[in-house]
Amino acid sequence: MVKRTVVIPLAALALAAALWFHKEGHRHELYLFHPMAVHFPIALLTTGWVICALGRRAEWLPNAASWMLWVGTTAAWAALGLGLLAERTAPHVPPAWRTLNLHETLAYWTVGSFTALSLWRWRRENWRPRLFLLAWAAACAVLLATAYQGGELVFTHGMGVSAE
Ligand code: HEM
Repeated sequence: MVKRTVVIPLAALALAAALWFHKEGHRHELYLFHPMAVHFPIALLTTGWVICALGRRAEWLPNAASWMLWVGTTAAWAALGLGLLAERTAPHVPPAWRTLNLHETLAYWTVGSFTALSLWRWRRENWRPRLFLLAWAAACAVLLATAYQGGELVFTHGMGVSAE
């Protein structure tokens, strides 16, 4: 059911976008997709922490926190993939290279830590909610540091910004 309603339209959309980009000669502008994706993990994983911290004040809260974590982690993987594509296709600015390396390293730590948190939440073995919340907060700090360095790339160094 989920397959039919979600996966098929998403796959069709991705295929149509890829064909359009290829046909219109935009394949070198694939870096434009990274900024489209990054806001989803940032919003879901930070707001998800707040929902998780609210505990059981309402019956639906723990379930909502789990789904925000899982969907946010999937979105972080998408941001990582599109970031690697952006690295290969965006116009490079040599003074930005140190920041780019730091941004990339932090992104791996972000995705790794949220993947571990997702598995922890899913297995629910030796469940330690306080420790879990603390670990989620630490992972959010790494995520926000990644996003900050991404902002530096664009708004300080002008990576991917046209001179026109
Ligand atoms: C969790 C993963 C990641 C997050 C949350 C993230 C976040 C961001 C943010 C917030 C920006 C600024 C976008 C804007 O507002 O214009 C950015 C730009 C950028 N990031 Fe990432 N990033 C991630 C992974 C990566 C990876 C793995 C790379 C590969 C080196 C990368 C390469 C870039 C590049 C080249 C830019 C500037 C050009 C562009 O926006 O396409 N990112 N990133």
